[in-house]
Amino acid sequence: MTVLDPYERSAEYLHPLTAGAWQSLAPALTGLLHAVEAEAGPVVDLGAGTGRGVAAICDALPGDEPVIAVEPSAPMRAVLLARVHDAPELRSRVTVLAEDAAHAALPEGLRAIVALNMLGHLPPAERRALWASAAQRLAPGGALIVNVSPPTRPERVPRTRMASATVGALHYEGWASAEPSGDDEVTWRMDYRVLRDGLPMSEVTVDYRWWVASESELAEETSEAGLVMRPAGDPQLGLKLLTRQGD
Ligand SMILES: C[S@@+](CC[C@H](N)C(=O)[O-])C[C@H]1O[C@@H](n2cnc3c(N)ncnc32)[C@H](O)[C@@H]1O
Repeated sequence: MTVLDPYERSAEYLHPLTAGAWQSLAPALTGLLHAVEAEAGPVVDLGAGTGRGVAAICDALPGDEPVIAVEPSAPMRAVLLARVHDAPELRSRVTVLAEDAAHAALPEGLRAIVALNMLGHLPPAERRALWASAAQRLAPGGALIVNVSPPTRPERVPRTRMASATVGALHYEGWASAEPSGDDEVTWRMDYRVLRDGLPMSEVTVDYRWWVASESELAEETSEAGLVMRPAGDPQLGLKLLTRQGD
């Protein structure tokens, strides 16, 4: 079966348009990684995108522990691999895997698994498989770090400008809206616009499925997998730290 990549036509815009969000996400992720009790072991970034999380992980945990960046989208991975290759402190320790969360062969004894801005890409069965995999692969005291952002149930999200950036003479904008498309999913519509002197030059529209779940549903699922989920840091960021029961 052909699996469509929702980032095939938008990947070129993602790195500049996620800079703003990562201004608060990177220090928050650093704080959570410093709070993880496990002091050794590889770190995995699931759905690593263009590598903003990978850079934050390597900054937060300097040294030579391996970082495994799992990224299924070829154009996203191209940006990621280029960034890793060009930064000596990343190149020596980051391995980029062309896999998705369900198929990546991950080692055990992980210090942390980071899965930011990607949970909704996982259908419920794959999300549950992620909890089970984390419970099995985390080192004692290790943590899975995810974020949960609205909507957490299938509801409409009005069209909003999510991000913008100027590069050279051109201005880039990302707009998002969502419509319910099932019992536990919405379909996001993303519009990426390129403008010059305020006038539109091009526009790309991408629709993709996004699975939603309430906090209580997630808490129940993760508990069944042997994990404890706690909110962490600024509630606006929706970050959750998951550790193994009993750790
Ligand atoms: C919104 S981007 C977030 C990228 C990065 N984590 C960040 O926060 O900047 C979502 C990423 O998840 C990836 N992704 C989609 N489905 C996935 C899956 N099943 N397993 C792992 N990654 C997936 C996409 O290719 C994309 O790079």
